[in-house]
Amino acid sequence: MEQYQEVTNNVFWVGVRHPELEIFDELFPTHNGTTYNSYVVRGEQKTALIDTVKAPFTDEFFAKVEDAVGLDQIDLVIINHTEPDHTGALGRLLEKRPDLPVYCSRPAQNFLSQLLNKPFNAQVVSDGDEIDLGGRTLRFFLAPYLHWPDTMFTYLVEDAVLFPCDAFGAHYCARKLFDDEIPDFSHDFHFYFDCIMRPFKDKVRAAVAKVDDLELKMICPSHGPIRRNDPSAVVGSYRRWSALPPEQPKPRALMLTMSAHGNTHSMAAAMQEELEENNFNVVVLRLCDMRDSDLRDELELADLILIGTSTINRDAPPQAWHALSLFSLVTPKAKVAAAFGSFGWSGEAVKLVEERLKGLRFKLPVPGLKLRFTPTEDNLRECREFASQLAAQVDVG
Ligand code: FEO
Repeated sequence: MEQYQEVTNNVFWVGVRHPELEIFDELFPTHNGTTYNSYVVRGEQKTALIDTVKAPFTDEFFAKVEDAVGLDQIDLVIINHTEPDHTGALGRLLEKRPDLPVYCSRPAQNFLSQLLNKPFNAQVVSDGDEIDLGGRTLRFFLAPYLHWPDTMFTYLVEDAVLFPCDAFGAHYCARKLFDDEIPDFSHDFHFYFDCIMRPFKDKVRAAVAKVDDLELKMICPSHGPIRRNDPSAVVGSYRRWSALPPEQPKPRALMLTMSAHGNTHSMAAAMQEELEENNFNVVVLRLCDMRDSDLRDELELADLILIGTSTINRDAPPQAWHALSLFSLVTPKAKVAAAFGSFGWSGEAVKLVEERLKGLRFKLPVPGLKLRFTPTEDNLRECREFASQLAAQVDVG
């Protein structure tokens, strides 16, 4: 079995590798598996364990902790984030050591109570709290929504080592532990940000601001390689990727359109003309051939979203539902949205898309517009009026 490794003086990696993992959480593909990193920090008086590993790897994890310092020498556990890939071994650890203090955020305490389903010795920490291990200090930074509400970072002050759990990680299982010993994995690092952190860019900005002024010699994330080759550049990547988009000279409308026979496109064209006359920059993506990445980018820029769709077999087509499934992967800028579409027999799609938009917490100030078959000149005037009313609802201040 693989051994624990020393990360720096009296800091040990006791994590596990999962190289054959192909889809993380059954959601995100990985090209090189992943790791579940856990660390031991030994002070003169106390020894801390930072995070644990996924449950199936518990025996291997215990063996590493035993070899590194001894399971009975652990004085406290720090849980930076409660998702089971990091707390899976905690239940069995607490069976062996039921009184072990578990330092965590308030949301983490709540989550753990229902992950463990048994009482535990929770020590809830606040932003900036510290623990003295004897000559070594651990400081906590709350970092909510990177990527769960419970997340916090732990910083080993004297050695300038940051333990940020999922943040700054990558699903990449290398044969060596450190970033300067392995091939370039920047694609996996960026993909991980896109999948896991991008929905919370505002929270990323807040967390980056907390660690911006810290001295950083090393970043020890919970997935992938340890970063000791210019760790500030790692933080810089998150700063860049989460930055606010530049101010735009005009309000921006995003129209997503799907039109089996061209009638919904005719409606969209009339709306586009009206919006442009109202000084909007209009971006149209056809649902049949758009790229997911284009939609995600545009959602972060648009002030107004319109979805135009045919009704196919009493429903909106799969392309519309797919597009809507991408909305929660970013924080859309727009607060206002609307649906429209031409139909032939029954026209359910507009109502169904409106319901989904409401579920996504958009305001729908103008009732959806649906028309049967080919729009007449009067219908096209209705479309322009619909767009004009929507334009008036957008706060561009
Ligand atoms: Fe790696 Fe959010 O768990």
